[in-house]
Amino acid sequence: MTGFCSYHIPVMDRILEFAVELAFESGKIQKDRFAEAHSIHHKGEINIVTDVDMECQERILNLISTRYPDDDVISEEKDNLFEGEKNRWIVDPIDGTTNYAHGYPFFCTSIAYEVKGDIACGVVYNPIFDELFFARKGKGAYLNGRPLTVSATNHMKQSLLVTGFPYDLNSNDRNNIDHFIAFLYEAQAVRRDGSAALNLSYVAAGRFDGFWELKLNPWDTAAGLLIVQEAGGKVTDFGGEPFDIYKGQLVASNGLIHAEMLRLLEESK
Ligand code: IPD
Ligand code: CA
Ligand code: CA
Repeated sequence: MTGFCSYHIPVMDRILEFAVELAFESGKIQKDRFAEAHSIHHKGEINIVTDVDMECQERILNLISTRYPDDDVISEEKDNLFEGEKNRWIVDPIDGTTNYAHGYPFFCTSIAYEVKGDIACGVVYNPIFDELFFARKGKGAYLNGRPLTVSATNHMKQSLLVTGFPYDLNSNDRNNIDHFIAFLYEAQAVRRDGSAALNLSYVAAGRFDGFWELKLNPWDTAAGLLIVQEAGGKVTDFGGEPFDIYKGQLVASNGLIHAEMLRLLEESK
C-alpha cells in the first residue's frame, strides 16, 4: 500500500502532506507546553525567543533532514544561508512568540516549500484554535479542508485591516506608526495581533480585508503569501510591485481595496 501511494501521489502532494505533519508535530509541542512557564531569551530589547520555539524548530528540522536530506532549510532560530539553488523549506517554528510567552492564544507554525524562487506550498497551523490553513500553487487555499476565498469588501471605510510593527520601532523612524495612524482614520477598524502568518491566512479567509507590514522575514510571509494568492487575494510591496519574501515590505488584500491601501501608504510616508 505504501509503495502504491508513493508511486501515485504527485510529488507536491507528498510535500504538502509532510508540511502538514510538521505543523501538527510543532503544534502539539506548543499546545502541550502552553500553560507552563517558559524560559525566555532576549534577542533584542523586545524581541524574544522561548524554549518552546527552540524545541519546535529542533523537531521540525530533524524530521526534514531525515525525510528530505538534500533540501535546504531556513528557519528563524538558526543561522541561515540564503543562497543556493536547492529546494528550500522556510520555517517559522512559532510565529507570534510574544503572544505565546504571555499565554495569548494567537500564534502558529508556518512552513513553506520554495522551488526555484516560487512558493509551491504553504501551511499555517494554530494549535489552540485547531485551524490549519494550507495552499498548493495552482490548487487553491483551504482552512481545515474547506476552500478559502478573500472578502468582497470594496471600500476602505468598510474594511477591517491588520498590521504589525518591527522590533526596532523604538530606535528607527521607519516603524509603521505614521501609516498606522493614517489607516486608523480611513478604515472601519485596524487590529494588531502579533502573527504575520496568521494575519495573511485571515486575509485569505476573508476575516481581514487587508494587511500591511514592513521589515518582515521570509519565514513570516512565505506560506501566508501563497495562501492569500490561492484564495484570490493580491500581495505586493508598498509600491505595487510583486512581493518578494526576501525584501520584507508587504501589502496583502482582497484585491478590491489594494489601490486604496497603496495610496494611503504613499501619502503617509
Ligand atoms: C513576528 C510576528 C509579528 C510581526 C513581527 C514578526 P515572531 O514574528 O509575525 O506579527 O509584527 O514583525 O517578527 O517574532 O513572533 O516569529
Ligand atoms: Ca515570525
Ligand atoms: Ca518566530
